[in-house]
Amino acid sequence: MALKLKRINMNPNKALWEKGDFTEIAAFMRQSGEAVVKSLGITTPLRVLDLGCGDGTTAVPLALLGAEVVGIDIAKNLVDAGNKRAQELGLTNLKFQEGDACDLQGVGDHSFNLTLSVFGAMFAPKPFDVAKEMVRVTKPGGRIVMGNWIPNDPTSFVSQLLKISSSFTPPPPEGFVSPMTWGVDANIIERFGQAGVPKEKISMVKDTFYFLSPDKSPTQFIESFERFYGPTMNAVEAAQKSGKVDELHSQLVELAKSQNKSAGGGTSIPATFLRVTVTL
Ligand SMILES: C[S@@+](CC[C@H](N)C(=O)[O-])C[C@H]1O[C@@H](n2cnc3c(N)ncnc32)[C@H](O)[C@@H]1O
Repeated sequence: MALKLKRINMNPNKALWEKGDFTEIAAFMRQSGEAVVKSLGITTPLRVLDLGCGDGTTAVPLALLGAEVVGIDIAKNLVDAGNKRAQELGLTNLKFQEGDACDLQGVGDHSFNLTLSVFGAMFAPKPFDVAKEMVRVTKPGGRIVMGNWIPNDPTSFVSQLLKISSSFTPPPPEGFVSPMTWGVDANIIERFGQAGVPKEKISMVKDTFYFLSPDKSPTQFIESFERFYGPTMNAVEAAQKSGKVDELHSQLVELAKSQNKSAGGGTSIPATFLRVTVTL
């Protein structure tokens, strides 16, 4: 009975991200995470919220630069992994905590100079609430920076990976808003517009994020998604039931191989994303 009740109450957004172990994917993202942080040109003192922070791909480099950083993520396993990293690095200016980007309970208005969300808040289910919350917790004069994958862009690796994965998965429940809608200019203007931000204060540019590993091949890279990345794990489970698991695997491997630029045996996949900057 207790188990049944727990299942009913489980937030599917949380369950999806706690299902696997995103730290295994984040291992391919460390260098570009640092590059994104460097490109922000931050000067301290600075209070930063990293929203949908995972285990700290951007939160750790921010803290290493001296910012006071709070990482908020819906997945408890990633919050725990982030706090372990912070502790191991002796970073007392970095704390990870559980929270939902749609409703940042306990986070005061105008708390941060910078709210950063790199491929994080885009995965929360209520985009208008997310935009409102990011604006609410950011100080006037501060900024919000988002990194979002772009739908239907063949060079936006994760959007292509998710497109393939979802073609093997049952359709989402009615009312589901695709995370990829955060990669469309008009949606960003509308969402931040409803949060009170005029479009003149929003800039959107295409940028490139690299998935890198010197020693893991594109096939091993895809195997990490199949084993550890919730949305792809769901696709694998569905494909196992429909007898299409080999087809799914070969489509994903083909995607990674076709985008791999590494001359050696490793992986170097450039992935286009939309970089959104909102100045408040
Ligand atoms: C693709 S991962 C990116 C993680 C991290 N930003 C990085 O670059 O390594 C997406 C992250 O968003 C988190 N997430 C998804 N929905 C969320 C929500 N509603 N509120 C907060 N975090 C969320 C997931 O748990 C996951 O850590």
